[in-house]
Amino acid sequence: MRSAAHLKGHPIHPMLVAFPIAFLTGAFGFDLAYWLTGQGAFWATGYYLALLGVLTALVAAVPGLLDYLRVVPPRSSARNRATLHLALNVGVIALFGAALLVRGELLPRLSTVLLLEGLGTALLAVSGWLGGELAFKHQVGVENRYARAGRWRELTLERSVGGPTVVAAEGELEVGQMKLLRFRDRRLVLARTEDGFACFEDRCTHKGGSLAGGTLACGTVQCPWHGSQFDVRTGVVRAGPATEPVATFPVDVVAGEVQLRG
Ligand code: FES
Repeated sequence: MRSAAHLKGHPIHPMLVAFPIAFLTGAFGFDLAYWLTGQGAFWATGYYLALLGVLTALVAAVPGLLDYLRVVPPRSSARNRATLHLALNVGVIALFGAALLVRGELLPRLSTVLLLEGLGTALLAVSGWLGGELAFKHQVGVENRYARAGRWRELTLERSVGGPTVVAAEGELEVGQMKLLRFRDRRLVLARTEDGFACFEDRCTHKGGSLAGGTLACGTVQCPWHGSQFDVRTGVVRAGPATEPVATFPVDVVAGEVQLRG
């Protein structure tokens, strides 16, 4: 068992993606300009921009992959989008990488370079739109704040849900605060309400939003994606669009420790 650092998201990811987007679209633009004008300087500029674009895309892929593995809720609509986003980005890097190889040949074929880069730019546009959806609609990398939310807390346990497990110290959470519990096979949320501790599945039954990233008030948690509300003790739906309750789990406080009964 170990405590995890803050992993709600990597704000560096959306900052870094601006570089490959600018460099790669710029490379296509300069190569098009070379095709139109025959100016060698445009061709050379296109080469360096493409090279920088591929390199910075590889750098931006590192926090992106971490977000995909650790932040995007599993079994959610965001996961499907993120998977497509990842696949498209791999395609973009492959297409611009192939264009770099072609232009490095003794007799580079301009039409092939433009075709590869044009396809890469089209994929980049779709992938960029999906990335925007993930950030603004699914709030990946966004820390949702509300009154007395406290700092983001999470705990990773290298085991499955089941059996008594210490998941927090009694004083760790104040009323209205939550903590994400990552098990090998599930994600649960520990919440402290006016009536004590409660534990429930970190998966909104509407489209899989992470409830740990939502808002907790008066024993009700609100999903950050479309606003469904659940009673954290019983799991019943207090407000839609969700119609199914979330699973809940019994917790006890024993000698100052919060224990999940399993
Ligand atoms: S995913 Fe839609 S309300 Fe939670």
